[in-house]
Amino acid sequence: MSKTLFFLLSLLIAVMHCRATRRNNEEVQTETLNLKAKHFNPQVPPLRTLSSSKRFEGSSEFVKLKYHMGPVLSSPINIYLIWYGKWPQSQKLLIKDFLLSISSTAAPSPSVADWWRTVSLYTDQTGANISRSVSIAGEYADLRYSHGTHLTRLSVQEVIASAVQAKPFPVDHRNGIYLILTSEDVTMEEFCRAVCGFHYFTFPSKVGYTLPYAWVGNSGKQCPEVCAYPFAVPGYMGGGGPGHLAPPNADVGVDGMVSVIGHELAELSSNPLVNAWYAGEDPTAPTEIGDLCEGLYGTGGGGGYIGSVMKDGRGRTFNLNGRNGRKFLVQWIWSPVLKACAGPNALD
Ligand SMILES: *[C@@H]1O[C@H](CO)[C@@H](O)[C@H](O)[C@H]1NC(C)=O
Repeated sequence: MSKTLFFLLSLLIAVMHCRATRRNNEEVQTETLNLKAKHFNPQVPPLRTLSSSKRFEGSSEFVKLKYHMGPVLSSPINIYLIWYGKWPQSQKLLIKDFLLSISSTAAPSPSVADWWRTVSLYTDQTGANISRSVSIAGEYADLRYSHGTHLTRLSVQEVIASAVQAKPFPVDHRNGIYLILTSEDVTMEEFCRAVCGFHYFTFPSKVGYTLPYAWVGNSGKQCPEVCAYPFAVPGYMGGGGPGHLAPPNADVGVDGMVSVIGHELAELSSNPLVNAWYAGEDPTAPTEIGDLCEGLYGTGGGGGYIGSVMKDGRGRTFNLNGRNGRKFLVQWIWSPVLKACAGPNALD
């Protein structure tokens, strides 16, 4: 093991050196700091979500991902954010930094933009790829919990309808996707038991339009061991099991949400009307490009391991760099080219 580690480190240093020589002093500094990031492949208790039956742990043998002729999000993607409940500014900034990192070329690799490249490999029947341009086009704060502190799959559409009626942003049925984020005191039908997030489209009878949307909740107080995995481990592991990992931005709930948001955005973009990219015969329970890689964050994942990820100088776990010096831990996505789960922090 130490030999392998030594080899990897030497390789890393060699690569860093080659790259550093081509860059200016400021960037060399960044590279030097990055050298402190250590690779490791932690073993964590198995993910106990309801979608565990959907996990394939990166093997392509049983995966029959198919294109069903529907549209993908091939025009520049406008995200409209709906903050439902009470959201501290610091948490909003963290999530917005992740979303804005998708199209940011400033972050060193492996970056969030590199990660989205796998998503952009999906095309529609005209050969148009999913857009690599993702921006935040508008925001709305539903501070008063307009539809209560318990939501359902249907009432979440009423939240979108209320937001659209308040006119903080346009009804953008060409390039828009609506992202509803609920604060940690809001419960959702099946949250924690079956879902950490989901995506669908609105019905004209509820909202007036067919708009692709996704919902993701902050699980920090309700079920971090399910939805903020691997930053929290199930209680049944007690003291005996391997410990949880330190979240990159010191916020278990929101750092956990970031990976779920990434998962939902990837699926929303490749299957916005649930008639494009998915595996399985049943469109009411499709297995999509994020589902196929749930719980995998790096090379060598599966069988209780999350894969090779990095640890910064403070012991915080991450696998992607973002804008403003942020770091994130985001699950891998199924690649239609490699026919396997893929991410930019791959070691091979
Ligand atoms: C579009 O997708 C195809 C098929 O996956 C891929 O070969 C190509 O590189 C992609 N183009 C861009 C611009 O990402």
